[in-house]
Amino acid sequence: MRRRLIAGNWKMNGTLDETRRLLEGLVAGLEPLVDRVDLLVLPPFTVLADASRFLRDSGASIHLGAQDLHFEAKGPFTGEISGAMLRDIGATHVLIGHSERRTWFAEKGELLEKKLRAALRAGLVPILCIGESLAERERGRTEDVLDEQLSETLLRLGPDEARKVVLAYEPVWAIGTGKHAAPAQAEEAHRHIRAKIAFAMGGEIAAEMKILYGGSVNGANASGLLARPGVDGALVGGASLSAEEFLKIARASAN
Ligand code: PGA
Repeated sequence: MRRRLIAGNWKMNGTLDETRRLLEGLVAGLEPLVDRVDLLVLPPFTVLADASRFLRDSGASIHLGAQDLHFEAKGPFTGEISGAMLRDIGATHVLIGHSERRTWFAEKGELLEKKLRAALRAGLVPILCIGESLAERERGRTEDVLDEQLSETLLRLGPDEARKVVLAYEPVWAIGTGKHAAPAQAEEAHRHIRAKIAFAMGGEIAAEMKILYGGSVNGANASGLLARPGVDGALVGGASLSAEEFLKIARASAN
């Protein structure tokens, strides 16, 4: 049984004060949910250590992760943060290949494979984001794009590494646009991704792996998306900046 995971990608948002307030709101609403769903927050690097201390001191079972990492453990990489450094401050998860990093920082292919391996070496759970653009969907290329993005990253790992990865299907046209995928579209994409993994790595691994949906998930549309078979949770951007909204999504997934 794949346990549900609701992850909040805060992106480039969160001063120390805002972080503290948001986490307090989450901790206050958490109690009835703890046994049924895993919650994860992904704040920016600058507040991670503080968030980690706050979560540890409050005893809340909310996991902590980062939005990116460098592929080396340390060294002359000005401005970068490694998986070992993330582990050191208590992070357990890390996003890899988010579409905003693919778009703004040209991340793809071999680099993402290296980041995946680095996260696993550091003992972090990588959340690998994949998804098609609107133009690719309109040209009927959605499945090809997903196949390519899987082939150049996840499918280059060995089965024992791959099974530790969480996938996030995030159609680029749904991210930050308010236009989420229809539940049937999400289900179809998730089914395709799982079938591709099963073909490449075997049904057992495919059945074990969590696939989250991301793209304009909010408290109102979460239950429809999360009710679909194969949708194992959500990667939430904008709506994760409100404790109330994020908890609503978590509640929808616990039902
Ligand atoms: P959104 O972002 O929920 O604001 O669409 C999702 C994401 O980028 O992970």
